[in-house]
Amino acid sequence: MPIIAVAFPSSERVYKRAMSNRFSTLGRYPNTRLRRNRREDWSRRLVAETKLSVDDLIWPVFVQEGHNTRTAVESMPGVDRLSIDLFVEAVKRARDLGIPAIAIFPETDPKAKTPDAREAYNPDNLVCRAIHAVKKTVDGIGVVCDVALDPFNSDGHDGIVRDGYVQNDESVEALVKQAIVQAAAGCDVQAPSDMMDGRIGAIRQALDAKGFEHTQIMSYAAKYASAFYNPFRDAIGSSGALKGDKKTYQMDPANSDEALREVGFDIEEGADMVMVKPGLLYLDVVRRVKDTFGVPTYAYQVSGEYSMLRGAADRGWLDWSKVLLETLGGFKRAGCDGILTYGAVDAAKLLKSK
Ligand code: PBG
Repeated sequence: MPIIAVAFPSSERVYKRAMSNRFSTLGRYPNTRLRRNRREDWSRRLVAETKLSVDDLIWPVFVQEGHNTRTAVESMPGVDRLSIDLFVEAVKRARDLGIPAIAIFPETDPKAKTPDAREAYNPDNLVCRAIHAVKKTVDGIGVVCDVALDPFNSDGHDGIVRDGYVQNDESVEALVKQAIVQAAAGCDVQAPSDMMDGRIGAIRQALDAKGFEHTQIMSYAAKYASAFYNPFRDAIGSSGALKGDKKTYQMDPANSDEALREVGFDIEEGADMVMVKPGLLYLDVVRRVKDTFGVPTYAYQVSGEYSMLRGAADRGWLDWSKVLLETLGGFKRAGCDGILTYGAVDAAKLLKSK
């Protein structure tokens, strides 16, 4: 039985919206001067409709093998891949800044990558060791992990490729095994980013059956086949491996009604939180998702968005602190309850010093 009904904006709702907008514009110049409320800082703060806080941030972090090593990700200025020991220290600092959660992404040794991506469910893989290390030493911060095969797959795809096609149900079986080993290592939130059909329900059932009923699921519900993920693929070392593109499973950027179907399915299947990805170009989708379902809604300011802003800022063309906070504020205004951003640590420091 469906638990929720998927609601699409009816013409009645559209009409009501238009009426309420008419009332909000009843004032007329010169009796009404909208600049009055904007004149002083205290007044601007008083009338602010949304507010970004450190509680809205999730910090994605790249991990690599080794000890006391960091490697700069060339296409993401300011972002390093960290060995587990340095990663744990970085997570402590993030926790001390008040960041509620981090998301772990591994760079897998190319030798461990296979067409069936079995390294994904090796309980001793890099992600599981990173989860374990952080959970053992750092309290008070949530750990989110992707559920997708691309870091482990010699084809660079999120699912298993057979006969030139990313197989759905066979991939879901592997994803379920991956979610279980991650949960067993202590991961708090499973974040399936693979876009296979039916994976949320399958993962939820398997987690519950194994006694992980408290493990949360943040579903990458509306994830688009975007050109803005390239720097991320450099960071996890999957760019070279990827054959073709991900258009047969990730969504067409032209669509937004379809995003509501994706989100509706994932909520029915047991997602606790839903995500739209990428971020800035898809804030219209965020708004529709939030208005339609009213569930905890997140967006991912992805690698390409980060690199655009940071790259321009490093050349002196943009002010990094200002564009970072303005973009994150835009996510809040669009209806996000939180944002995954590589700028989380910088944003947390800026918000603290304000
Ligand atoms: C993998 C995954 C991707 C991202 C998060 N998880 C890349 C992809 O789907 O190719 C992108 C994150 C980013 O670009 O910052 N399933």
